[in-house]
Amino acid sequence: MTERTYYILTFGCQMNKLDSELAAGQLEMAGYSLAESAESADLVLLNTCSVRAKAQVKATSLLCNFTRDVAGKSGRRIVGIMGCVAQQMQEKLTEAPYLAEFVLGSRAVSRLAEVLERLAAGERGILALEEDCASWDYEAETVSRLNKRSAYVAISRGCSNFCTYCIVPYVRGPIQHRRPESIVDEVRSLTDSGYIDICLLGQNVNAYDYDGCSFVNLLERVASIGGIRRLRFITTHPKDLCIDTVRMMVNPPFAPYISLPLQSGSDRILGLMNRGYTRGQYMEKVSWLKEYLPGAFISTDIMVGFPGETEADFEDTLEIVRKAQFDNIYSFVYSTRPRTKAASLMSDVPDEVIKARFKRLLALQRQNHIDRLKRFVGETVEVLIDGVSKKDKGAPCGRTPQHVIVNLPHDKCDVGELVEVTITGAGIRTLLGKVTKRIL
Ligand code: 5AD
Ligand code: SF4
Repeated sequence: MTERTYYILTFGCQMNKLDSELAAGQLEMAGYSLAESAESADLVLLNTCSVRAKAQVKATSLLCNFTRDVAGKSGRRIVGIMGCVAQQMQEKLTEAPYLAEFVLGSRAVSRLAEVLERLAAGERGILALEEDCASWDYEAETVSRLNKRSAYVAISRGCSNFCTYCIVPYVRGPIQHRRPESIVDEVRSLTDSGYIDICLLGQNVNAYDYDGCSFVNLLERVASIGGIRRLRFITTHPKDLCIDTVRMMVNPPFAPYISLPLQSGSDRILGLMNRGYTRGQYMEKVSWLKEYLPGAFISTDIMVGFPGETEADFEDTLEIVRKAQFDNIYSFVYSTRPRTKAASLMSDVPDEVIKARFKRLLALQRQNHIDRLKRFVGETVEVLIDGVSKKDKGAPCGRTPQHVIVNLPHDKCDVGELVEVTITGAGIRTLLGKVTKRIL
């Protein structure tokens, strides 16, 4: 029998990236090997995101392209779909015009092995949507990781916060916490095999609680494992961030980086979003970070155009952006998602107004960014290589401990290498550098 190959296309958040590595592990255990491209693979799996409508449209049109392509060819290739769009649209995805051969639910990733067996037996249009297990966990050995130095480790899955704009609680289900022993064991086995950059994952990591083991307790246990050079966690919910977590981040191996999504700076909108904090409470947490971690990067997410957002609400957001001096902002235009509470709110903000506000937010942040990154020029920083630059094709790129991208157009480096770099230039979002020493 000729060897069968697979290719996974991953969209969306870090949780999806990890789910793809879990899916890859099962494919490899079933005898599949990684193809060079989706076009040449026998099995193509789309791992999808539905957090905004655009992402969902992209996923479904890509699915149609792949399945149409198969129909036009020998029909040998299998196309499946997983992730949030799979969970949202379910059996519809096996019907025209999508025609996926299997649909894997977002809490059913470990059922891929069973799906592969059913495919081998000739079954098509398979739905595997129900949960894989009531108390969720996974074994470290079942993950096929592409990167040999950086790893995502899930500590929880799902979310029970029900922010009124967000589809995640519907497509990923309520929060389930992973056993602390499994997390610690996985991190230990990763560091034993050379991993130095660990990122703990959860939709709201600070809500972690397993039989009385809190997030801070878990951090203590993970941080005491030798060999970690950078320990990060995403995403932090501002309502659940406590001072003990911030105090703990002062010492190694914690990386000087935190993602603290603001969403809006208006108390009225934060209330409508069901975020569970006020602008004052948010700013208090920012002040902890600035006090205890003065050099750390604070990244945030901001949404523009939530239903009923007034000019005054938006001004409140801009004011927080000015005060907090974020190092990085991911900004989004509000997108109505089915089943969410906000979908029933009347939105009377015209599109042109939303677009103009979005531009104003970007302009404000742009200057912040440039000023912040300029300060790195001339400094020596430690960079962990994680790939090649998108703009400067072929040039290695990596991340500083603050998670800032550095492009190294004059050097040759391998993914996973840790190098010392002198920063020679700064752009809007990225730095430019030259390797001065190989560390690891
Ligand atoms: N519309 C726009 N942005 C959204 N996000 C979540 N839901 C929506 C939505 N319906 C953004 C939030 C979140 C980030 C991951 O995506 O800012 O923090
Ligand atoms: Fe969505 Fe809110 Fe949960 Fe984040 S915390 S995943 S925004 S519901």
